[in-house]
Amino acid sequence: MTDEDGYFGERVARHYDQSAGSEFQPDTIERTVDLLAELADGGRALELGIGTGRVALPLARRGVPVHGIDLSRAMTARLRAKPGGEEIGVSIGDFATTKVDTTAGGRFSLAYLVFNTIMNLTTQDAQVACFRNAAEHLAPGGCFVIEVMVPELRRIPAGQNIVPFSTGPTEWAYTTYDTVTQDATCHYVTVTPDGRGEVHSTPFRYVWPAELDLMARLAGLRLRDRWDGWTRRPFTEDSARHVSVWEKPVTAP
Ligand SMILES: C[S@@+](CC[C@H](N)C(=O)[O-])C[C@H]1O[C@@H](n2cnc3c(N)ncnc32)[C@H](O)[C@@H]1O
Repeated sequence: MTDEDGYFGERVARHYDQSAGSEFQPDTIERTVDLLAELADGGRALELGIGTGRVALPLARRGVPVHGIDLSRAMTARLRAKPGGEEIGVSIGDFATTKVDTTAGGRFSLAYLVFNTIMNLTTQDAQVACFRNAAEHLAPGGCFVIEVMVPELRRIPAGQNIVPFSTGPTEWAYTTYDTVTQDATCHYVTVTPDGRGEVHSTPFRYVWPAELDLMARLAGLRLRDRWDGWTRRPFTEDSARHVSVWEKPVTAP
């Protein structure tokens, strides 16, 4: 399975690195890489959903050998085209199931999945499988890191299931939620200069921190840290996102 025409095909890959979002700001990337390099602790890192190398390339420049898994040839072609991109190994496939050969390089001291990408797995089974797959790639003592938003259900008005998150004269975007199944879809609507409309929709499955902890336990991992973000401020009831670190015990539980 690949993603040639899917949610991260050519149309998205072409503009991905031009985003003005906070994730693309140098200070955010610096903090992200600071934490990941510290957790890699001299070992190798595996990025699930490596994309265009937004995080993998600066991490590799810190001296951490990085390997990536991704479904999208369009996204990973952008990584390849950047300085240093050729040196990063990429396995094309689903990060919930794809195995990276560790016979030569050994298992990883760090696996990470950032920028809400766990939610691209749209079933609970696939998210559970992803934790198992990450854990299997880790050496004892290794860590699995996820950065993901806290579900925004407090923003849903009573009796409705829609949360707008971007509005403008010719563009608007909103999320529809099914609070029974935890399925959600982001819809991006654009009015083109000729007055016509374009709609792109991306499905995801929102997931709670406690549910992720249970997935980690099923995979034999245990929670080591949870922060409000890459700044490592404490996670609180008002946190909009979290960076969580689960550890593979040195001795089997
Ligand atoms: C939001 S982008 C993040 C890219 C990169 N990690 C970053 O932080 O900029 C999500 C990436 O995950 C990939 N992806 C989504 N679901 C995937 C899956 N099930 N298996 C492998 N890759 C997946 C997409 O192709 C895309 O490159």
